[in-house]
Amino acid sequence: MKIALIGLGSVGRGVAEMVAKKDLGITITAVADSTSVCMDADGIDIHTLLARKKKSGRCGDEGVSVTELLKKADYDALVEVSPTNALTGEPSIGYIKTALNRKKHVVTSNKGPICLAGKELRALAQKKGVALRYEATVAGAIPVMHLLEHGLAGNEILAIYGILNGTCNYILTRMADEGLTYDQALLEARELGYAEADPTYDVQGIDAAIKLVILANTIWGNGATLDDVERTGIDLLTADALRLAEEDGCTIRLIAEAIPRKHILRVSPRIIPKNHPLVVEGTLNALTLETDMAKEITLIGRGAGSVETASAIIGDLLYIRNHYDKRA
Ligand SMILES: NC(=O)c1ccc[n+]([C@@H]2O[C@H](COP(=O)([O-])OP(=O)(O)OC[C@H]3O[C@@H](n4cnc5c(N)ncnc54)[C@H](OP(=O)(O)O)[C@@H]3O)[C@@H](O)[C@H]2O)c1
Repeated sequence: MKIALIGLGSVGRGVAEMVAKKDLGITITAVADSTSVCMDADGIDIHTLLARKKKSGRCGDEGVSVTELLKKADYDALVEVSPTNALTGEPSIGYIKTALNRKKHVVTSNKGPICLAGKELRALAQKKGVALRYEATVAGAIPVMHLLEHGLAGNEILAIYGILNGTCNYILTRMADEGLTYDQALLEARELGYAEADPTYDVQGIDAAIKLVILANTIWGNGATLDDVERTGIDLLTADALRLAEEDGCTIRLIAEAIPRKHILRVSPRIIPKNHPLVVEGTLNALTLETDMAKEITLIGRGAGSVETASAIIGDLLYIRNHYDKRA
């Protein structure tokens, strides 16, 4: 299976490293970062690629745009792992459309295009007879999409509850465990690389809301948008609030929840018993699916990380190879 890899940052590097390390039958034939591209239909040498990127900051040469690369290169699947633009989804929506229009499969970890244009992109993929898979967009390494699609096939999904943002979970864990203030815990999260310089998307619940929209649309196809999510972040939470919860054997977590029968689509800090399955520590993610036949299933795992996210992407690629196109 030949792949075009757009983005060679944390996730792109994780994918490239695992493709080089494991015998997966995947060959990288095209790569792009923000300023350069490289292409070789016979397969790019990954060690040379990563060494060049590390030394020069570029994966290849200038002169060819990413869109041109996607139109010219020889590949079976696009792996789109460039930064999320939550306002427009661009340029990634354009990249994905270019590949789909060429009847290439697409696998992405990029939440922007799926949240903003998921319906249109899924329809285009279907029309072209190719796959659009996005396991990595929600809860990193946790294979929730695969579970919904396969293990829980035939179940009605009644509700989902999740901890979908590791940065917030880390901050809340540290506030509860060490009595830190929000600002102290945020500073620590930044120093450890868990929080961005501008943490707005995480701490105001926007990132979790985007993931909730992706899940809700995947499960119920209900055309939910970010504006439909009732959202409260953790940035105004006090150490006192956590202490009071603690006194009652509870703690506070940022919970994303979708309950269609009650018209609930919400991200908010919630007081929950400390022994609740969703109370996970540090940067972990967790997700409870409430279904009619299987009842409650809770998944816990890593929501981010270079190789962890690559796990979800490689799972999607191998699924495509096994189920869609025997030639890929
Ligand atoms: N990191 C995680 O754990 C994780 C988990 C789940 C989902 N995601 C999502 O996965 C995507 C990638 O995340 P990341 O952490 O790998 O990001 P990152 O480290 O910032 O890397 C982004 C890569 O995309 C390249 N890029 C930037 N603008 C581009 C453009 N216009 N066209 C082509 N390439 C472009 C960058 O180029 P330069 O190298 O030249 O800067 C860089 O190589 C994001 O959408 C993120 O939300 C990440």
